Amino acid sequence: MSENILGSRYPIIQTAMGWVATPQLVAASTSAGCFGFLALATSSKEEAIELIEETAKISSFPFGINFHMFQPGAKEIIEAAIENNVKAVSYSRSPIPQYIEKLKMNNIICIPTVGALKHAIKAEKLGADALVIQGSEGGGHTGSTPTTLLLSSVLENVSVPVFAAGGFRDGYGLAAAKAWGAQGIAMGTRFMMTKESPVPENTKDAYLQADIDEISVTKKFDGLPHRLIFNKYIQNIDKSNPLKLFFISLKSAWKYKQISQASFGDIVKSFFAMLRGDDLSISQTIMAANSPAVIQKAMVEGNPDQGAMPSGQVAGIIKEIPSCENLVKEIIEQYHKASENLKTL
Ligand SMILES: Cc1cc2nc3c(=O)[nH]c(=O)nc-3n(C[C@H](O)[C@H](O)[C@H](O)COP(=O)(O)O)c2cc1C
Repeated sequence: MSENILGSRYPIIQTAMGWVATPQLVAASTSAGCFGFLALATSSKEEAIELIEETAKISSFPFGINFHMFQPGAKEIIEAAIENNVKAVSYSRSPIPQYIEKLKMNNIICIPTVGALKHAIKAEKLGADALVIQGSEGGGHTGSTPTTLLLSSVLENVSVPVFAAGGFRDGYGLAAAKAWGAQGIAMGTRFMMTKESPVPENTKDAYLQADIDEISVTKKFDGLPHRLIFNKYIQNIDKSNPLKLFFISLKSAWKYKQISQASFGDIVKSFFAMLRGDDLSISQTIMAANSPAVIQKAMVEGNPDQGAMPSGQVAGIIKEIPSCENLVKEIIEQYHKASENLKTL
C-alpha cells in the first residue's frame, strides 16, 4: 500500500473518542499498523499533559492528539505535544491560526476533521496538511452530508491528502475510499468496539445489539447535531417539548451539579421565556454542561441504559469485538480481495 502522510504502515486512522481513545487503545492501534489519536477534548490541562506523556511512553509508534483549540489549557497542551514528539494534531471547531502556525513550525502535521465542504476549503486555507472528512453516518458530533457525497466533493475541491470517515469498518471500505482518491480511512466506532477499547463490556454489548435505525441524530442532547444510540434516555430527550426538556435539564443539573454558567436568575428567566415558547437556550446550556457526565455514565461507568452512547451508524452492522491486531489483519485481507474485484469490470 502506498505511503501516507502520517507514515503508519497502513493508511488507517484510529480517531479520537472522548474517554475511549486512551493511551492503551492508541498503543494497540498503532502497534497494529494504524495511526492513533489520543482523545484530549474532554480532559483538563493537567490530565491532558499526563495522558500525552503516558502515550509517548507506552506507544512504540508515532501517534497524534485531538483537542479543541478553544479549550482551557490548549496552549500548554501544544507545548506538551511538541516536547513529547507528537506527530499529528486533530481538531475541528474554531481553529486558531497562531496555534496552527506554531504546530507547523514544529513539524507537527495538522489534520482537522471537517463535516462539510465549506469547512474543508477553509481548513486548507488555514494551513491544514491533510483532512479527515466525516460524513453524516459518523459517530459523535456530525454534519448532514453523507460520506460518499462529502468525500467526492472535497476531493474535487482541495489539494491536500484526505482520509475518509463515517461508516467504515472493513477492507472493502478502505479500497472504496482509495479508489475514490482518498489516502485512507479513519474509524471511530470500529475501534471503540475492539478488545483494547476501555469501554465496559455491558456497554460494548449495547453497541453490538444496536440496529442501524436506532443510531440517529439529535440536537437536543448538547445543542449540536450528535449521532448516538437512541436508548430510552436519549429517546426521552429527543421527543421532549420545551417544558419537558427544561425539567429534564434541571434534574440532570441537580444530579450532576454542573449548572455551568446558568445562575438561578437565568433559570427563572428561561422558565418564563420557555412558557412563552421563545427560548430554549438555558435548558440547552444546562444539558450541554451535563453531557460529559451523562456520556461517562455509559462509556466509563458501564451503565448503558442511563447514559449516552455516541455512535456511528456502522455499529448497527458490527457483530464482533476483535483485538486491534486481528481487526487490522482482516481489513488488509479484505482490501486485497477488493482489489481483485476491481480488476474486471
Ligand atoms: C464514542 C465516540 C466519541 C467521540 N469523541 C470524539 C472526540 O472527542 N473528538 C472528536 O474529534 N471526535 C470524536 N468522535 C468522532 C470520531 O472521532 C470519528 O470522527 C467518528 O467516529 C467517525 O465515524 P465512525 O464512527 O463511523 O467511524 C467520537 C465518536 C464516538 C463514536
